[in-house]
Amino acid sequence: MNQLSPSTVPAHVAIIMDGNGRWANARGLPRAMGHRKGVEAVREAVRTATECGVSYLTLFAFSSENWSRPQSEVSDLMGLLKTFIRRDLAVLHRQNVRIRIIGDRTNLASDILPLLLEAEDTTRNNTGTTLVIAFNYGARDEIARAMQTLAADVVAGRLDPRDITPERIGASLDTAGIPDPDLIIRTSGEERLSNFLLWQGAYAELMFIPDFWPDFSRETFLDALSRYSARERRFGGLQATKTLAVGS
Ligand code: FPP
Repeated sequence: MNQLSPSTVPAHVAIIMDGNGRWANARGLPRAMGHRKGVEAVREAVRTATECGVSYLTLFAFSSENWSRPQSEVSDLMGLLKTFIRRDLAVLHRQNVRIRIIGDRTNLASDILPLLLEAEDTTRNNTGTTLVIAFNYGARDEIARAMQTLAADVVAGRLDPRDITPERIGASLDTAGIPDPDLIIRTSGEERLSNFLLWQGAYAELMFIPDFWPDFSRETFLDALSRYSARERRFGGLQATKTLAVGS
């Protein structure tokens, strides 16, 4: 394993956790078992991010399109998220992890929203890694909601349309204040973004890893960080750089 230098550790890693169902199928297990095992991989990923000094870790936990899955699977996933917050919140708080939730919060079940708000509230002043949970999240929906806010400001005379800049749009997204992802990882060998961080990921390095999410271990994560450190980022310019300004 290559040594990771703090200067080449990405500030923000975002992960599309894919392949829980296939992991379970390959073992003749119900899909729910894949999701359950996936939560263990979530815990390990958060620990590894904290250990390596990754400042932001965004995990795609439930997309706005996932509601179309069978009702039993949707309720399994909801149950796992609720249990994760109930059981792990104290541990995450002790690890100085701050939790942020992105995604559409309207019309969420009354037993989910208060838990998400509690997780954000309890960890608000923590200064370690920020765990961003994308829940009921879809990038196009996020951008549309931001546009509605900006349009309402224009109609109310609070905003000049000429002030709708990329910075202003970025600051109107759910991820306001969070730097753009440096690295987006997708597991399970699929090579697409599936409506994840489409605006914020404009200059992200993409990494597609063959392992199913439940097999995403500390070693897999360290290897991804090591491979990222060898990438050359140019942001449309000519000179290679390793960093991207917050909000750019
Ligand atoms: C993709 O696998 C995974 C998901 C849709 C959900 C990910 C959720 C978790 C890992 C658990 C809850 C999350 C947290 C943060 C506690 P898939 O079902 O699409 O797999 P497949 O493509 O093999 O069918």
